[in-house]
Amino acid sequence: MKGGCSTRRGLSLCLTVSLLLQGRSDAFTINCSGFDQHGVDPAAFQAVFDRKAFRPVISFSIPTHVNLSFTLSAILEVDAQLQLLTSFLWINLIWDNPFISWNPEECVSINKLTVSAKNLWLPDIFIMESMEMSQAPPDLIAYVSSEGRIRYDRPARVTSICNLDIFYFLFDQQNCTFTFSSFLYTVDSMVLGMNKEVWEITETSRHIIQTQREWELLGINKATPKMSVGSNVYDQIMFYVAIRRRPRLYVINLLVPSSFLVAIDALSFYLPAESETCVPFKITLLLGYNVFLLMMNDLLPSSGTPLIGVYFALCLSLMVLSLLETIFITYLLHLATTWPPPMPRWLHSLLLHCASPTKCCPTVPQKGNTGPGLTPAHLPGLKEPLELVGKVPGSQEAEVNGCPGPTRAGQGDEAQKQCLVSLWVQFSHVMDTLVFRLYLLFMATSIITVIVLWNT
Ligand SMILES: *[C@@H]1O[C@H](CO)[C@@H](O)[C@H](O)[C@H]1NC(C)=O
Ligand SMILES: *[C@@H]1O[C@H](CO)[C@@H](O)[C@H](O)[C@H]1NC(C)=O
Ligand SMILES: *[C@@H]1O[C@H](CO)[C@@H](O)[C@H](O)[C@H]1NC(C)=O
Repeated sequence: MKGGCSTRRGLSLCLTVSLLLQGRSDAFTINCSGFDQHGVDPAAFQAVFDRKAFRPVISFSIPTHVNLSFTLSAILEVDAQLQLLTSFLWINLIWDNPFISWNPEECVSINKLTVSAKNLWLPDIFIMESMEMSQAPPDLIAYVSSEGRIRYDRPARVTSICNLDIFYFLFDQQNCTFTFSSFLYTVDSMVLGMNKEVWEITETSRHIIQTQREWELLGINKATPKMSVGSNVYDQIMFYVAIRRRPRLYVINLLVPSSFLVAIDALSFYLPAESETCVPFKITLLLGYNVFLLMMNDLLPSSGTPLIGVYFALCLSLMVLSLLETIFITYLLHLATTWPPPMPRWLHSLLLHCASPTKCCPTVPQKGNTGPGLTPAHLPGLKEPLELVGKVPGSQEAEVNGCPGPTRAGQGDEAQKQCLVSLWVQFSHVMDTLVFRLYLLFMATSIITVIVLWNT
């Protein structure tokens, strides 16, 4: 050593000076006379440790290459309201420190050492989406190889912003981004690379992921666009993490009870409309459904309008509709059997159009009850007023299809009244059938939708 470089403090200055003079990285070879079977003499690394405040490069025009990868070890929480994804990552960084190198042959065959990370310069890689990133544990260590390659792993609990779309809630997939970038160093000073292929990251994460709970990792993709802020260009690597919700819990807790209630409500069309129990029964169901909705409010994401919210609203509307229809029919039957009002002509023609045997309502009571038993027009309870009507002299065919309109006063009062009664009764049957079919259509559509969504 030259004079002036003999003290330890002067060593790094001396190294720099000798580098500038000779331009050789040999100058940074660590004197490993301090290495032995018992350990390493800290003095040998002191020059490196002293430099940790500065980016370790021979010349500042050379960018530091940092290769990174990560393992997604847990998906802890997906908060749709705050649009946050909380996950646990093991971040892995590799870079070269040109000031570290030793000859393993001279140094009792030591190829790599562990060094406390707080003594080394660390790249300031962070995740741009993170709102909150846990501090690295203070006692982390890094592997240092004899060529000066440093490998640093740190765990991090990352709460990152993610644009969550809950429209398909229950069967939804989310695509969250982790953008790794240096906070300060532009592309002239730091270049990012990968030390694993993306599929390797995906495989490892899938294998290691701790939470087998609500979310399942679908895949990870990568993109490497540069980011420019003003005149500065930063290198960055973006990872798109696709995750999918496991719907089983929600199907059991949300869809099944709701479907039961709707099915019971649909089946309640078979209750006789004249019986006193029909309206209270439907009101009870409606109440039950409301209690269910109240309890389920906690399970549903509270932001946006998921499709399932629309589904529940539709179920509720159908139940309300069926209740209203029951009230209406009860009222109509009451009215028809006491004082039937004149039927508006448009309603009359609509009814004739609709209830004619060849048109959309194939079941007209006068043709005899031979149709399929499922049609509400044949419900046992609803037969009663028809039979009541049928006792009146005069053919029923003539009553319904050839009934004199309310504006024509051709026949006796009694006959016209009976005609009106039968018209109103038929009208209520048409309404009943309509709502019942609406129900069946809705149930079929929702079942098909659920099956399709579940299988995609
Ligand atoms: C390494 O250091 C020892 C003293 O610790 C010294 O005797 C030896 O000459 C040094 N070797 C080199 C190559 O500088
Ligand atoms: C980073 O990765 C590239 C390509 O895989 C490789 O050439 C380079 O040596 C790596 N650098 C470091 C510091 O690991
Ligand atoms: C996630 O979104 C990005 C664009 O924002 C897209 O390039 C990528 O393919 C998406 N990944 C998946 C799995 O949908």
